[in-house]
Amino acid sequence: MKNILAPSILSADFANLGRDVLAAVNAGAEYVHIDVMDGMFVPQISFGHPIVKSIRPLTDAIFDAHLMVEEPGRYVEEFAKAGCDIISVHAEACTHLDRVVHQIKDAGARAAVALNPSTPLNVIEYLLPELDMVLIMTVNPGFGNQKYIPYCDEKIRQLRTMINEKGLSVRIQVDGGIKAGNIAHVAECGADTFVAGSAVFGGDIKANVEALLKEIR
Ligand code: DX5
Ligand code: ZN
Repeated sequence: MKNILAPSILSADFANLGRDVLAAVNAGAEYVHIDVMDGMFVPQISFGHPIVKSIRPLTDAIFDAHLMVEEPGRYVEEFAKAGCDIISVHAEACTHLDRVVHQIKDAGARAAVALNPSTPLNVIEYLLPELDMVLIMTVNPGFGNQKYIPYCDEKIRQLRTMINEKGLSVRIQVDGGIKAGNIAHVAECGADTFVAGSAVFGGDIKANVEALLKEIR
């Protein structure tokens, strides 16, 4: 499976959001990672679907929404309609995770489940064949620019084994603390989809994207 870079616009310059999205995509990033925070599931509030709608016409890149929201089933249709191609919901935030996953698919988007660092993989064991992607949080969600949690290496390896043993082609996305210095190592653990916020939008976006892609191609 091809390795993909997913710049997190949480670290972009919101006054120049369109410009920053285009800089990342034109430099070779294939996903645009959209971090939605509700001030409940995580402490911060970021933005909602109107922002997605306003940047959607700029590019054909895959829009990858990461809903850090309590009971995200309440918003799935809105984000799909706004133009999100992939929607990730947290297992910890859904009382009825299977129902929400099918809600995403029924809305025409690809479904992903996100897991906090300490959440065990077995919560998605039965759902795995229904998923397009699993998002392994490699920091505690809520803020950009935190440090990668080392025990996630083992979790990524175990998920890779689980997916291979079941003969599935589910993507493994990692999110949090991914930098040019560790991205190749995380790829070696088994991840294939890499979110990077501060490592992309801190400084020269084009040079940053190229440096990250060089490590995983
Ligand atoms: C964290 C978000 C991340 C964040 C990553 O809650 O889900 O997507 O923006 O930022 P970096 O890459 O700076 O750790
Ligand atoms: Zn994210």
